[in-house]
Amino acid sequence: MFERADRGNRAVVLHPVLRGTGLDKLDEFEELCRSAGVEVAVILTAPRARPDARFFVGKGKIDEVTEQVSATGADLVLVSCALSAIQERNIEAECGCRVLDRTTLILDIFAQRARSHEGKLQVELAQLRHISTRLIRGWTHLERQKGGIGLRGPGETQLETDRRLIGQRIRYLKGRLDKVRKQRAQSRRRRERAQVFTVALVGYTNAGKSTLFNALTESNVDTRDRQFATLDPTVRQLPNVPTGNVLLADTVGFVSDLPHELVAAFHATLLETREADLLLHVIDAADPFHQQREQDVEEVLDSVDAGNIAVIRVFNKIDLVDRPAGTHVGADGVVERIDVSALEEIGLSRLKNAIATRLKGERIRTWISLGGQHAKLRSQLFDLGAVEEEKVSANGQWLLHIDLSQQDAKQLGRMPGAEGVLVRESILVQS
Ligand code: GTP
Repeated sequence: MFERADRGNRAVVLHPVLRGTGLDKLDEFEELCRSAGVEVAVILTAPRARPDARFFVGKGKIDEVTEQVSATGADLVLVSCALSAIQERNIEAECGCRVLDRTTLILDIFAQRARSHEGKLQVELAQLRHISTRLIRGWTHLERQKGGIGLRGPGETQLETDRRLIGQRIRYLKGRLDKVRKQRAQSRRRRERAQVFTVALVGYTNAGKSTLFNALTESNVDTRDRQFATLDPTVRQLPNVPTGNVLLADTVGFVSDLPHELVAAFHATLLETREADLLLHVIDAADPFHQQREQDVEEVLDSVDAGNIAVIRVFNKIDLVDRPAGTHVGADGVVERIDVSALEEIGLSRLKNAIATRLKGERIRTWISLGGQHAKLRSQLFDLGAVEEEKVSANGQWLLHIDLSQQDAKQLGRMPGAEGVLVRESILVQS
């Protein structure tokens, strides 16, 4: 249904630079092109004070693009920013070849990389939503691909047919996604009941998360030098960690200025992140823009309510940096930051120890005393598998020995009637 950037495409890249945007965005866009498997024939930069309504850039620049398309034999024009449907169509008409903007290119990469059923559904939904905002008169994409007798209802124009087909498909996908999500929630609950910790790898795309995931779990996940090698959460047992049952989840890489409509395609990954006991924020120590990118990641984590989960900042690719590998321990004795090389396997056992120490600190293991007004809280604790032992005291109070994560404790603590009961400082400890 969708036009895709096929492998082996040759592209002319048009890079409009508006005042206040740096050329570092070009590096990122080139990475995206490589990720999509497109060969960049030439890059044309177009400085502008503000976007032009017709082509985003000036007509002169579009003539230059057209010349380069025929000079290089390119079959694709890639534009490094988001275009309106009209701009895209106007440039297509001028250059005589397919035009993809940044959003469509990222969607295309997601579509190539989606592995799980849920990931594929989410990407298709994001693609359809994107396409439905671009349905304009004279738009012919669906017509070319889907034209057929019986597709059109009585008296419908092509535009109406397209809208109807897209609407139907969106409704179908939403239904499927709901089902898949419910199944995922069930397996998450099973994990919670079995009292396992979840550690999630987060970080900017290409920081080395998948390489670290493999090095830590001694497994083999695709780590080609491409962005978004990981779209769906990949979860594996983390071996040789003193704390016992720890699962490591790899997540999709963050990217700055992710187009708004693509955020939904990350939902599964973001959910995993939000429910983790500990985050490993992987940072490319050799990346000159790593500070800005660290902030980007932190902002995204905040926006998905994962901002207050414990974090260890992992500076990866330390083999490429001219300084000795080190560990930074905070005032309260916890490891806050650690240098590693996933590729050269430097610092990995230190990292595992740091994970174990942090996780132990993030658990609550204690006796609590609950009265009749806490019946709902008690049943939730049982549902979570957090109750190890229960007794009834002489005065009729429940005495529960619980083992649960700070995160769960915080969530349960928000239940009506449970305020304060599970907050570490005010837990009622019985000896
Ligand atoms: P996304 O899936 O796009 O989010 O990327 P990622 O963060 O999972 O990165 P990935 O593990 O795919 O690594 C990206 C590139 O960095 C690959 O070419 C790796 O070989 C390289 N790389 C990862 N870790 C190291 C390291 O410690 N040192 C060096 N020199 N290269 C590394």
